[in-house]
Amino acid sequence: MCGIVGYIGERSCAEILLDGLSKLEYRGYDSAGISVLTEEGIRTVKRRGRLQNLRGAVETAKLTGNCGIGHTRWATHGEPSDRNSHPHGTGRLSLVHNGIIENYLGIREMLERRGYVFESETDTEAAAKLIDFCYKGDPLAALREALPVLRGSYAFSVIFADYPGKIFAVRRDSPLIVGLSEEGNFTASDIPAILRYTRRYLLLDTDEIAVVERERVTVFDVAGNRVEKEVKTADFDMGAAEKGGYPHFMLKEIHEQPKALRDTIQPRLEDGLPRFSELPDDFFDGITKIYIVACGTAMHAGLVGRCAIERYAGIPVEVDLASEFRYREPLLDPEHHLFVCITQSGETADSLAALRLAKARGVRTLSVVNVLGSTISRESDQVLYTYAGPEIAVASTKAYSVQLAVMYLLALRLALLRKGISEEEVRRLTAELCRMPEVVEQVLAREDEIHHIAAACQNAHDLFFIGRGLDYALSQEGSLKLKEISYIHSEAYAAGELKHGTISLVTDGVPVFALATQDALYEKMIGNIKEVKARGAQVVLLHREKAADVGKIADLSFALPQMEELFCPIPGVTVLQLFAYYCSLLRGCDVDKPRNLAKSVTVE
Ligand code: G6P
Repeated sequence: MCGIVGYIGERSCAEILLDGLSKLEYRGYDSAGISVLTEEGIRTVKRRGRLQNLRGAVETAKLTGNCGIGHTRWATHGEPSDRNSHPHGTGRLSLVHNGIIENYLGIREMLERRGYVFESETDTEAAAKLIDFCYKGDPLAALREALPVLRGSYAFSVIFADYPGKIFAVRRDSPLIVGLSEEGNFTASDIPAILRYTRRYLLLDTDEIAVVERERVTVFDVAGNRVEKEVKTADFDMGAAEKGGYPHFMLKEIHEQPKALRDTIQPRLEDGLPRFSELPDDFFDGITKIYIVACGTAMHAGLVGRCAIERYAGIPVEVDLASEFRYREPLLDPEHHLFVCITQSGETADSLAALRLAKARGVRTLSVVNVLGSTISRESDQVLYTYAGPEIAVASTKAYSVQLAVMYLLALRLALLRKGISEEEVRRLTAELCRMPEVVEQVLAREDEIHHIAAACQNAHDLFFIGRGLDYALSQEGSLKLKEISYIHSEAYAAGELKHGTISLVTDGVPVFALATQDALYEKMIGNIKEVKARGAQVVLLHREKAADVGKIADLSFALPQMEELFCPIPGVTVLQLFAYYCSLLRGCDVDKPRNLAKSVTVE
């Protein structure tokens, strides 16, 4: 989603803004622009398409100045075009925005009646012109007057022609940080944008306004009082935000999974048993039902979590898409229900809204989050961090694996507390979970085999993933990965459900990726595989070593090493991620920046 960067300092800002924007490309965008305060006032250059278009235009325009703002836009209101790109403003100010102004039409009409002329279809332009309307020479007063009128979410960085040494920054429900360095200060949507210059930053709270100057940053609350902010230090360095010799971030991140798993599991072990020292001892007391709520890949991790928690802890679990949960009037019981939000970014708008709904109903909330200090981590009652490090590729990989690890640890912890299974069994399963980084390493060493399978499927128009139980949960993630980055149409089906409709789509040569890693369901899966095979499907089978009749039922196959079947989704997803990666690569797609997708979805 939209990315913001601003710089005020000793250096010429155009190059710093372009560099910062390039580090935000991973968020997903379709146009970009910058505004610089020059001697002739504010000058703005914006272009549809990739950053290189903007770079060329900025070079021609020769923008000289050391205070400016930049933006990568992910279109919501109005098509991707030069006109709709940010920054927006007037001769007096220029503004970049991440979020959605819900009442922009009303504001626009009010301003049009007062003579303002609009150039774009965006909601953002209404906010920019509203601030201009409120501006009588004092930017802080203008912001304070305008902000209460705006409904929706925003992170803004604004420059005023009358104040060449200042950037004004404010946020509500969309992320924004202020970066601090010896050579100037920054505003940014995310740490990678500023990491090249500094690791020190401030987090803004809702409706706090930061006045960012070359040598100081002053933050005010809504009432105009000064607020002292804690200076934070990003715990990852440039290396984490660069490709480190890999051709794509996605491949790098797939390979980082063993480390991410170790980093996430190890701190949660005590004497060979799972324990979350970050949670109060009585946190799970009296829980009779769990709601796991998330979006996209994170929701798929929740599906695996449900299987594990119900099986081992005996607690009923509902898994919901956050965008559905928030509008379906869930029946929440504050005393006995636990709300678990899973989110890599900690900023997903629907997940945040779902969390707020659960909190408003008085339910205990726990979030599983990768990004430290993100909004969801700050607003949840308790947080379990995953330690995947920064994930840059739009298609989530290592974040999912560590979410699985936390789901398993949670299931085993709850099983222990509930005494659902013996301590000895929990100990055995925990030891097996600890072996998963090694098992993933074994799969990674066999990348060639997966490349070979991808080559056989690369020309497919449609591809089906089928599985039962845990394998069905995993199928959904495999299918999402494939369509996200290779653009092959794909669906995941509960294998037993095929005959109720989807099998009509299976014809000669259609690839069916069958996941059959669970002993109790293996024979059932063979039956389903035979059904698709009889209709001409090209079957790829994911199974565990020593499974029966593989050669007879599958055209291609991949055997996971012998292991506890509960944890098969961890190495299993590595296979499916690499499969999607190679399909995307072989089809010439932009692996790390798939069309239309955004990494961090900060609008509803
Ligand atoms: C976007 C990303 C997905 C991610 C989903 C939820 O759609 O492209 O990779 O799974 O958002 O994001 P979250 O940050 O809440 O896990």
